Amino acid sequence: MAFRKDFLWGGATAANQCEGGYNEGGRGLANVDVVPIGKDRFPIISGQMKMFDFDDKHFYPAKEAIDMYHRYKEDIALFGEMGFKTYRLSIAWTRIFPNGDEAEPNEEGLKFYEDLFKECHKYGIEPLVTITHFDCPMHLIKKYGAWRSRELVGFYENLCKVIFNRYKGLVKYWLTFNEINMILHAPFMGAGLYFEEDDNKEQVKYQAAHHELVASAIATKIAHEVDPENKVGCMLAAGSNYPYTPKPEDVWAGKQNDRENYFFIDVQSRGEYPAYALKEMERNGIEIKMEEGDKELLKAHTVDFISFSYYSSRVATVDPELLEQTQGNIFASVKNPYLEASEWGWQIDPLGLRITMNDLYDRYQKPLFIVENGLGAVDTPDENGYVEDDYRIEYLAAHLQAMKDAVELDGVDLWGYTTWGCIDLVSAGTGEMKKRYGFIYVDRDNEGNGTLKRTKKKSFDWYKKVIASNGEDLSN
Ligand code: BG6
Repeated sequence: MAFRKDFLWGGATAANQCEGGYNEGGRGLANVDVVPIGKDRFPIISGQMKMFDFDDKHFYPAKEAIDMYHRYKEDIALFGEMGFKTYRLSIAWTRIFPNGDEAEPNEEGLKFYEDLFKECHKYGIEPLVTITHFDCPMHLIKKYGAWRSRELVGFYENLCKVIFNRYKGLVKYWLTFNEINMILHAPFMGAGLYFEEDDNKEQVKYQAAHHELVASAIATKIAHEVDPENKVGCMLAAGSNYPYTPKPEDVWAGKQNDRENYFFIDVQSRGEYPAYALKEMERNGIEIKMEEGDKELLKAHTVDFISFSYYSSRVATVDPELLEQTQGNIFASVKNPYLEASEWGWQIDPLGLRITMNDLYDRYQKPLFIVENGLGAVDTPDENGYVEDDYRIEYLAAHLQAMKDAVELDGVDLWGYTTWGCIDLVSAGTGEMKKRYGFIYVDRDNEGNGTLKRTKKKSFDWYKKVIASNGEDLSN
């Protein structure tokens, strides 16, 4: 058998993409609420266009999302039926601290997640909790400039103290920041950063990243103090770079692109700023303001495991402008002529998953956890609402085979696998509902119409069989 007996099979979601109930239970407003669907989305999530509140010209899909806030029992029952061993979800910071800087947490928000975790345990599902999945309270953005301010470290620390204590015994797997490297590519969505004209963007981003890295180390420290059983992971938007040609300059470009992402994990896993990053910052005039004790904190509280999302590999070249570009999880890359792509232009590369796993395992020698992978596709239900999503099964089976090879043939230590969007939810990149990843169809469209009814797709039974066989049976 390739996978360990206690392998954590499951699915993943994020609060802002599925909960809705944005103004219920005392919840405050967050950056992720005010990002609309449509052409303004990208300028907003990348911090170029200011959107600090709702206006009547846009539609904001996260307000209701798929209404999991009210329907989580039904949804978790379906996850239980598939045999999930884990369910990755995120906590909405603004349910616990509506403004972010209060002294006392909001009991209603705390109770909501407590009930949700208990519901998971009813089905033998271990929650895997992302502490922040792109969300930052709007109040912290307006008053402090979000993660550009050192004060955010303290507010995040308060959040961690509260949730680690309250959920002790209910949650033992934690991720500090979803796709921490997203701060470089979608800084408003990733870290609440909005830029003024005279901002030195790179300086702001790396200083904010430092604050997140310190906050992540503090979270790891507290998690271990509160409960030695806690396991804390970092989370990388992964996908190794291939050189476009064997030209040494292309190989070097690939290495540099990889390092831009590894930088974060190097700090979280090895506990110090890598030499190449220090040199690069020096060359670019970026100065990281550190406080006394930061270096020691980073060194002493490294993560227990490395989690990552994988949707595609990337291609690097010294002459990107000469070549066709593709889309892929916010990161545009040069198109790989050997790969097919999804309807959204994300290139499909199962072997790239094995390569990425090996790269990460070689580099960090810590257990890995794949916490996102999947195919965003248009699903067309029949008259009974049933979707025959063989394309999704084919995509997942190929990736699972590659993952199995990495474990069985290469010896990578892998704790678990959660598919992205196990139930259809709002797309982070585009705000669409039409881009579906789930085993469960949700009747809702891009404009917010639909009954929100849940219907199992063909892939539901397929994944159930995969889990029951602990990954031995991948056949359709
Ligand atoms: C990851 C995020 O970037 O990719 C998720 O962690 C996101 O929040 C997922 O939904 C898929 O991207 P998209 O743009 O298709 O939703």
